[in-house]
Amino acid sequence: MKNFDIDKVRADFPLLKREVNGKPLVYLDNGATTQKPKVVIDAITGYYTDINSNVHRGVHYLSQISTDAFEVTRRKLRDFIHAKEDYEIIITKGTTDSINLVAQCYGKAFIQEGDEIVISAMEHHSNIVPWQMLCDEKGAVLRVIPMDKAGVLDQAVYAELLSAKTKIVAITYVSNALGTINPIKEMIQLAHQHGVPVLVDAAQAIQHMQLDVQDLDVDFLVFSGHKMYGPTGVGVLYGKEKWLNAMPPYQGGGDMIKDVTFAKTTYNELPFKFEAGTPNIEAGICLAAAIDYINDIGLDEIKAHEDALLAYATEKLNAIQGVRVIGTAAQKSSVLSFVVDGVHPYDIGVLLDKLGIAVRTGHHCAQPIMDQFEIPGTVRASLAMYNTKADIDTFIAGLNRALTMLL
Ligand code: ALA
Repeated sequence: MKNFDIDKVRADFPLLKREVNGKPLVYLDNGATTQKPKVVIDAITGYYTDINSNVHRGVHYLSQISTDAFEVTRRKLRDFIHAKEDYEIIITKGTTDSINLVAQCYGKAFIQEGDEIVISAMEHHSNIVPWQMLCDEKGAVLRVIPMDKAGVLDQAVYAELLSAKTKIVAITYVSNALGTINPIKEMIQLAHQHGVPVLVDAAQAIQHMQLDVQDLDVDFLVFSGHKMYGPTGVGVLYGKEKWLNAMPPYQGGGDMIKDVTFAKTTYNELPFKFEAGTPNIEAGICLAAAIDYINDIGLDEIKAHEDALLAYATEKLNAIQGVRVIGTAAQKSSVLSFVVDGVHPYDIGVLLDKLGIAVRTGHHCAQPIMDQFEIPGTVRASLAMYNTKADIDTFIAGLNRALTMLL
């Protein structure tokens, strides 16, 4: 059992020491992006100071060093999510890029007119729109698993939606707007009984809980570096080898080819087949520092800390008159979305910001969720490993103050 020392953790994140609007920062917008520990910031400086060079291209010393470092990240990612092979890890720009890759490439290979794609009512736009675009292109049909008032997916309807027409299921592990943790292992098992592969959007899960792609038996899993204390502009598509090999490439360009003539091009092997062009080298390499950092603290410790904080914050929030928490599933992670009767979420966000408290307001790129709850949006406080009870107390005091002014 590792030791979780919150003071030590906070000291590792330089930005947390700054003030905003003359107040000590309380950063509760971690669902949007996390702050970076000094080891990641130092790795970025170190990359440009010592090894900046393109990957997979040069015979020269620096290029070999940067290529090796990039491939070290791939192996660390493999271990982090317990993938079988490092070539099942495709390094992308982020979650959105990864989902678009699967929608386009799996779509080209396997989706035809009349086929059905199953998503859920709580998806982020990134896990809706690429599938809608594919449906438009192919004449396929989007089917949506409904959810109840607590923000829990209806598993009975999900079971009914799966049929011989279903060609892929794409669901989020944790909802960015509600915090619901979906029972993805069971949902994957059910899809597999129908021979249907499953893509899991782990953008809001990867930084909060252990993930084992082999245990989940998931076919595709996607996430972003910047939400797991790493740099922006880098993300991951994990895909089972059999699917990745059966899919055509995403984009054409350098690195993804074996041979090019004007008559014909043959494609490179995995993972390079899906990695056209110069990647975000710096971010790719420095993501390794974030993985090491998380591993050092321990995901179980992080989860225990964040779960306790979520329970504390939920209790405090529920005690405020007029507050309605949106997303009240029994299984939740790190997200606290709410509305207050008679007050627009944006106004709360602006007043909290004046107090140095950063939250996100609006539809959180999940408009269908807001439509279902018949609200314009929510105020969302989202947690990371470095948040404290004191952060929650400041947030609750700030909210009370804002409501006194607004009501
Ligand atoms: N998807 C990110 C969020 O939920 C940006 O805030």
